[in-house]
Amino acid sequence: MMSERLYVGIDLGTFQSTIASSAGAMHSIETVVGRPKDPVARNFLKRDVLFGADALKNKLACNLYRPMAAGVAQDDEANLAAAKAFVSHLIETVDPEEYDEVFGVICSPSHVSFTDKSNLVATLRGQVNAIMVVTEPFATAFGIGEIGGSIVVDVGAGTTDIARIHGTFPTDEDQVTIQEAGDWLDIELMTLISKKFTGAQITKDMVRKWKEESSYVGGDTRTVEVNLSVDGKNQTVDIGDLILEACELLIPKVGNAIKRIVAEADPEYQPVLRNNIILSGGGSLIDGLAERVAREISDIGDVNVWCVENPLEKVAEGALMLAGEMPDDMYTAIN
Ligand SMILES: Nc1ncnc2c1ncn2[C@@H]1O[C@H](COP(=O)(O)OP(=O)(O)O)[C@@H](O)[C@H]1O
Ligand SMILES: [Mg+2]
Repeated sequence: MMSERLYVGIDLGTFQSTIASSAGAMHSIETVVGRPKDPVARNFLKRDVLFGADALKNKLACNLYRPMAAGVAQDDEANLAAAKAFVSHLIETVDPEEYDEVFGVICSPSHVSFTDKSNLVATLRGQVNAIMVVTEPFATAFGIGEIGGSIVVDVGAGTTDIARIHGTFPTDEDQVTIQEAGDWLDIELMTLISKKFTGAQITKDMVRKWKEESSYVGGDTRTVEVNLSVDGKNQTVDIGDLILEACELLIPKVGNAIKRIVAEADPEYQPVLRNNIILSGGGSLIDGLAERVAREISDIGDVNVWCVENPLEKVAEGALMLAGEMPDDMYTAIN
């Protein structure tokens, strides 16, 4: 009998991670790990480690780790252990034990060494037979059939990665990474809100949710009413102008990085790249972003900027497609 192989595509994200399998599974889990704080919590929760929504729901009884988040020291043992447990858990959700072998294509943030290739090989031994590590922009481009000539701009939580894609695996020189992305935007917006509404009690999670519901750039100021507590007293306030102001801050940062990526390309190729600039990642859901970015960089010539559909699943989908189509010798075997 032929042995059965499962392919998986994995997007390890700063904020949330997604796995897609050739058996049709697709799961997203927030990249959070919880460990019971003490024996009482352990006894109450009846497990040693919790993931994603489960960890968040029980956050008062747990120590929480976000091992991929910006600024996490990459030599921290507890976060390394959390990263390993998380990756293993993610793979368990697609029932790898039901297959003879598992081949995986994995994307992980460039600044996180917990999930670099050597750590992944060690973590996944016994669970996965072979892996290939690729960048998020490349997986996205592959998933939408645009590896021929494009610039992919992945606006994630921790970083924005901008890559030239020209028919083959991009090298380090083909990619620029900037720190201005979703998390940065949350901090900027939080600062603006705190300044305007003195005494407002807001958390980064509240601000992120408001942003995700109402983010936009370009055009007129919109009204966005939210409830917040000012010195313990509930108030409804309009933060529409501040959301626009914060989102607009991202535009020159992204625009300049795109211009740099174009300028450094082979000159004969630059028109192709200018005409196929693809926005992806959760940040590409900012309403009006493609038009606004196009306007920002219009001084370099005719440009065409567009957004991928379903950006939150696109990386894992692309990684899964790559997994199935790459020859075995492109993989690193895990013995
Ligand atoms: N509608 C939206 N508008 C603006 N930002 C959004 C929206 N939806 C999600 N995001 C942001 O996208 C980021 C997550 O995107 P993702 O591509 O999954 O990041 P990463 O790969 O770094 O984990 C978060 O900062 C999240 O707040
Ligand atoms: Mg991502």
